[in-house]
Amino acid sequence: LFARPWVFLKGCVRVSDLPADNIVEVAFAGRSNVGKSSLINALVGQRALARTSNTPGRTQELNLFAPEQGGIRIVDMPGYGFAKAPKPAVEKWNKLIHQFLRGRPNLRRVYVLIDGRHGPKANDATVMNELDKAAVSYQVVLTKMDKLPEKGTEAVLDATRKFIAKRPAAHPEIIATSSEKGAGVDMLRAEIAKFLEG
Ligand code: GTP
Ligand code: MG
Repeated sequence: LFARPWVFLKGCVRVSDLPADNIVEVAFAGRSNVGKSSLINALVGQRALARTSNTPGRTQELNLFAPEQGGIRIVDMPGYGFAKAPKPAVEKWNKLIHQFLRGRPNLRRVYVLIDGRHGPKANDATVMNELDKAAVSYQVVLTKMDKLPEKGTEAVLDATRKFIAKRPAAHPEIIATSSEKGAGVDMLRAEIAKFLEG
């Protein structure tokens, strides 16, 4: 579905650095360390496309990726809710995240990643509130499901369903994934391929 290779296009520290909004974009948002960059790599089948790290706060810019032949862009976002980062840095990232999510006309879908072990948190609600207000379509993707005991799956799915139930811009379907084991990755890839142009 996705033609390889994907390439890194640009890292943007402010929204004015973004390329023209003439190509469809989907973005990966979520708490710091939730697995955004890892899932992008799993999705495109290139281990080292997006930089990943054990240390939260790895991604500090809006990093844009695209297939070499074009048709779509994926935006890897800085994580939110990273308590140990210096305050000015947090404020800068938050401003960047919120400006991007609110004001990007070609942004078709935001994948809001949530750690399957922890479920949705207050700062996920903040981001979802904003997306609802801006009427930007988003879908929850649970991550790191390989770290969850089998019997924990229904509980986190239930909690997440309740969390999004009354949210107007939320896609009702939740995708459970593991970048490590590949679970759910095909499904997510098929979802994103629907936005592919040309
Ligand atoms: P920031 O850029 O800091 O916001 O983090 P991120 O959301 O991009 O997370 P990243 O992909 O860098 O992954 C964070 C850590 O979680 C890394 O050590 C990954 O190896 C690990 N990780 C990511 N996805 C999975 C997964 O599906 N399973 C397991 N077991 N570990 C994962
Ligand atoms: Mg990252």
